[in-house]
Order: sequence, then structure tokens, then C-alpha cells
Amino acid sequence: MSDERFFLTGALGCIGAWTARNLVRDGAAVTVFDLGTNHSRLELVMEPEELARIHFVQADITDTDRVQIAMAESKSTHIIHLAALQVPFCRANPPLGAAVNVVGTVNVFEAAKKLGIKQVVYASSIAVYGYADEYAEERVSNDAPLHPLNHYGVYKQANEGTARIYWQDDGIASIALRPYTIYGPARDQGMTSTPTKAMLAAARGERYEISFQGVNGFQYADDVAKTFIQAARTPFPGAGVYNLAGSIVDMSVVIAAIEAAEPSAAGRITAADTVLPFPQGFDDSELRKILGDIPFTPLTQGVAETISLFKAAIAAGKLPKETVQE
Ligand SMILES: NC(=O)c1ccc[n+]([C@@H]2O[C@H](COP(=O)([O-])OP(=O)(O)OC[C@H]3O[C@@H](n4cnc5c(N)ncnc54)[C@H](O)[C@@H]3O)[C@@H](O)[C@H]2O)c1
Repeated sequence: MSDERFFLTGALGCIGAWTARNLVRDGAAVTVFDLGTNHSRLELVMEPEELARIHFVQADITDTDRVQIAMAESKSTHIIHLAALQVPFCRANPPLGAAVNVVGTVNVFEAAKKLGIKQVVYASSIAVYGYADEYAEERVSNDAPLHPLNHYGVYKQANEGTARIYWQDDGIASIALRPYTIYGPARDQGMTSTPTKAMLAAARGERYEISFQGVNGFQYADDVAKTFIQAARTPFPGAGVYNLAGSIVDMSVVIAAIEAAEPSAAGRITAADTVLPFPQGFDDSELRKILGDIPFTPLTQGVAETISLFKAAIAAGKLPKETVQE
């Protein structure tokens, strides 16, 4: 049993569920702070006895006092802040998006400052960047100019500024990771969730059209969760923001990986003509300089593991046998 104590926000979401799973398996104490009540993503990736070891606080990240009290009660040594509203939700309700994504992040830093916790690790996003044609590099570097294309990206850029000022004024260090297209079990919402929905369709023997095509950075949720944990365990003198690379491949490679893992899916999984406006790939060499090796599962293996977990979950009744129309 380790004596690490983690304060983990947004763990009812995809990356958070994988982060909670890895922390519990490492023997760390975990307090989950999340407004939600639906534990289905956690249940999908964890055993009931593992879930029983988590302390849950159901509360709103926009509530400054509540964040501080929960963090104090958790006696945490490490903070991983993932709670946020994703692109479609910020688009639908920008004031709420700003409250959750911007004020929520300030609340986490402020609580860390009040409690003397010296480092915060949090999720930014590649949505802080602009259109693909604004960048000459094939793999965009950390310090390329930021030019967010939606409210969500603007809020993430604000978070990076918040972190910089808490380091400058208060010596609260931070590491932000900027994921791109996360895939894997529990990735069921957000603009880039459709490749994972295609893997679930393949596991069910259904047809599915992925909502975009082209080259993207695909990052396995388990790898990203482990990278957040590794960052939280790495003392860092500054406010660093880092791109993740993952597998930078065309959607046809993802579809081929799905068909390799589930041959009956051949011809049933397609991709729409839409191409995301973002750069195709990002350079993670700066992150490697501070963390060393980063967890990396090859795409074919990550896709195969995802479909296999989905099949087991369907068989166990954790997921419906067929797509339920939303
Ligand atoms: N999934 C991706 O591809 C991706 C890409 C780039 C960045 N990110 C960032 O990574 C982080 C985690 O992403 P995810 O895919 O796991 O997100 P998710 O949407 O699956 O989970 C977000 C969690 O935040 C919680 N939350 C929302 N509002 C809250 C509030 N007011 N108070 C407390 N909790 C609240 C939700 O209940 C949910 O459990 C987010 O910050 C996201 O912006 C994700």
C-alpha cells in the first residue's frame, strides 16, 4: 500500500475512470470529486472491490469552498484535475462551460495554494491550437502559437494562463497534458468519441459511420491516464504544458485495426468525409524530456483490447447488447 493520496476531479468521465483504475491498482488512496452520479464508466473498467476503495465526493467544481473543503478532508498529496465540459457542451452553454472549465480550474489551484499542495496536474487540450494550415510543422510543437477555434479551446487556453500565474505568484507548480483523440472503453461522449463508438459497434456486430476521417493523433485512454499519474508523481519546477502524440495515423488505419480485431466488422465500419480542422499530429518530445518514457500501447493492441473489453462487458450485462438510440 502506498502512502500517496490523490485528489482526482472528473473521474466519472473517460480519462478519469482509467486514472482511478490505475491509482487504485497502485494502492494509492483516491478521493474522486465529481458532480455526476453515474458510475457506469468506472464500473466498465473496474471491479466492484476496486470501486469500493474510492472515496466519492459528489459536488460542483465551480463551488470554491466545496473544492477546498473536499481537498482538505482528503489530505491529498497529489492532484489530478480532469473535470470539464467538452466541446459540444461548451458550445451549447458557453457561460456554464466557462464556469466549469475556467472557474473550476482556478478553484483547484486556489485550494492547492490554501492547503500548501505544491503541484497540480490538469488536462488541457489540443483545442488550444488553430487551423491545421496555420502551422508549417508536420508535428506541432508545444510552443507553436495558440489560436483556439471554439469556446472550449479558449477556456483551456485560459487554464494554461491560470497555471502560469499560480506558479509566478504563488509557486504552485503544474503540468498540463493536451490530449487529442482519446479512444478506449468509457470514451462515449465528445467530438472525437466516434472512433471508439465504432469499436463498440464492431463488438456488437453493428454498422457504424465514424463522424470524421483523415490523419489524427489517437491516444489510448489507459496510456493517457498513466501519463497523468506519472506527471503527478514527477516534481516539476514551473508551469509546463505538453502535447501528447500517441499513434498519428489515418482513420483507415483505425478501421483496419477494428477489422483485424473483429473480422466480422469488415465493410461495416466507415468514416464520413469530414476532416477535423486541427493539425494532424503533435510533438511530445518536450514531455519526454521531463517524464522520460511515456506509456504507449500500439494502436492495433489498444483497439483489440478495447473491443475485447466491450465484448466482455456486453456478455456481463454492463453494456446493452445493441446501440440504444439517444
Ligand atoms: N476525451 C478527449 O479526447 C479529450 C481530449 C482533450 C482534452 N480532454 C480533457 O481531458 C479531461 C477529461 O476528459 P474526459 O474525456 O474524461 O471527459 P468526460 O466528459 O468523460 O468527463 C468529465 C467529467 O467531469 C465531470 N464534471 C462536469 N462538470 C462538473 C462540475 N461542474 N463539477 C464537477 N465535475 C464535473 C463530469 O461529471 C465528468 O465525469 C477534460 O478536462 C477534457 O477537457 C479530453
